[in-house]
Amino acid sequence: CGIVGYIGHREAYPIVIKGLKRLEYRGYDSAGVMLYDAESGIKICKTKGKVADLEAKAKNGFTTNGNIGIGHTRWATHGVPNDVNSHPHLSNSGELAIIHNGIIENYAPLKEELIKRGYVFHSDTDTEVLVNLIEEVQKKENIKLGKAVQIALNQVVGAYAIAVFDKKNPNELVAARLGSPLAIGVGEGEYFIASDASPFIEYTSNAIYLEDGEMANIRLHKPLKIRKIKDDSLVDPYIQELQMNLEQIEKGGYDHFMLKEIYEQPSVIKDTYRGRLNANKGIVQMAGVEDNLEKFLNAKRIVIVACGTSWHAGLVAEYIFEEFARIPVEVEYASEFRYRNPIINKDDVVIAISQSGETADTMAAIKLAKENGAFVFGVCNVVGSSISRETHAGAYTHAGPEIGVASTKAFTTQITVLTMIALRLGKAKGTLSNTDFHTYLQELEIIPEKVAEALETNDRAKEIAAAFKDAPNCLYLGRGYNFPVALEGALKLKEISYIHAEGYPAAEMKHGPIALIDEHMPVIVIAPKQGHYDKIVSNIQEIKSRSGKIIAVVTKGDTQVRELADYVIEIPETSDALSPLITTIPLQLLSYYIAVMRGCNVDQPRNLAKSVTVE
Ligand code: G6P
Repeated sequence: CGIVGYIGHREAYPIVIKGLKRLEYRGYDSAGVMLYDAESGIKICKTKGKVADLEAKAKNGFTTNGNIGIGHTRWATHGVPNDVNSHPHLSNSGELAIIHNGIIENYAPLKEELIKRGYVFHSDTDTEVLVNLIEEVQKKENIKLGKAVQIALNQVVGAYAIAVFDKKNPNELVAARLGSPLAIGVGEGEYFIASDASPFIEYTSNAIYLEDGEMANIRLHKPLKIRKIKDDSLVDPYIQELQMNLEQIEKGGYDHFMLKEIYEQPSVIKDTYRGRLNANKGIVQMAGVEDNLEKFLNAKRIVIVACGTSWHAGLVAEYIFEEFARIPVEVEYASEFRYRNPIINKDDVVIAISQSGETADTMAAIKLAKENGAFVFGVCNVVGSSISRETHAGAYTHAGPEIGVASTKAFTTQITVLTMIALRLGKAKGTLSNTDFHTYLQELEIIPEKVAEALETNDRAKEIAAAFKDAPNCLYLGRGYNFPVALEGALKLKEISYIHAEGYPAAEMKHGPIALIDEHMPVIVIAPKQGHYDKIVSNIQEIKSRSGKIIAVVTKGDTQVRELADYVIEIPETSDALSPLITTIPLQLLSYYIAVMRGCNVDQPRNLAKSVTVE
């Protein structure tokens, strides 16, 4: 979910609405806003659907004046998306309003207790339990909102970023975080609250990121007070200068953020290696790696933890690390790792990969690894994110804000960072020959040009998309470095077009998926010249003999596969190890165009969220 709040001299409504639109990547199944003005008191408008639906609903008689407001865009956990379950939620007296991102795990006993005390619940949400708990504490103890929030939160188990408003003291908002991000924008005589800084960058570049377990009393014309929820101790607010700019979070002429982000890849990969890689001088270095080089070199094992697309980048890295640095690698779903009592040793290096830097499962996996004495290195995109702060060291991907829910540029920049680490270690360990080391550096340096060339497959991807847009299923096959690319290709298609797709190691096809192949089944085969070309040609033969429709991604000039495939997509030649950076591109475009042709909402696919801060 995404949350926004405003208190100051401007009209709150447009700020909250615009802010919610920027946060829709965090969830978009319902949305709501609360405004306050002295004359009419608390006003709430909320609805199932997107922020645009909320705006439409507000046009029917909702008065939007007021200089204080909070808003929410939801990704449902407790309770189906509907108007009643949408936030903000009011307490029983109607005096407190809350917005909440996260989960209250012990909501059931708390709710039971409140019901015994006469509280009535209108929604199925855990959030309504929290706001009534705050009210109950406030009444019982006869205390101000901040104190009541603090006492209530100390009874709560779970994760949250909240903002609470109390009509009895309308010049104040109280915000708190545990496990879900929360930024406070500090302007002149005004404050902003949001899940990330994007809702307020045009108003102020000063932001405070609350740490886990902190809460803030935000009062008009008074200094901001931040304290620890647990022991009430005051914390000095640390104001950061924001690095983001408005242009980065707008579409810039593209129809969708996803397409813009696909096309940004040549330049953001350059941003990723800028100042870190110099092929002429034979240098590849990242501060976080240099400072901890011994740890990496002494590692008996590297364990990679991640979710979703980031997990796929981890799989690519497994091949690269083992090849370049000869260090055994295990790649784990963070959600599985954290709950299965994994074996972690002090000489393990754990690499956590996360675009958002907020994924709850990845965060928990990091904490577990740290508790067991491992050194944890983060590969994150969002600067200052929770994971980037929780890890011992790390390297940013510098891809810029990724807004499309389906991850594209985050994936290729993650692979770029991980490849650079593997090259650095391979060189230090001597597991990579000098010649290979220099060849790879040179190749990586010109990869952005090859990515740009791969983007020229755009029209071809469109053509193929038109032919297969109505397919109910799709199979993606690849070998070696391109097996994870097959998984990622299938994930992209599933996420945004709702076509069922599976990625498989090409040789595994004969152990099951081959049974699915008939003349209706599109099979996308990643078959570049380098790598296991002959083997994959045999796999293509196997598909062909069962009448499958073959779409092959091949190296420019390929003739052998062309004879067998129904469609080929040509990409520039690269070494096997770096090929995922290139082969991924046409698969992203293909999914994009299929989704567009099927009329799907590409940037905000159903049921998904970009930043999953619940487990
Ligand atoms: C969500 C997103 C995916 C992303 C995954 C992991 O499911 O929809 O695109 O790959 O979370 O997110 P992270 O921010 O940790 O990379």
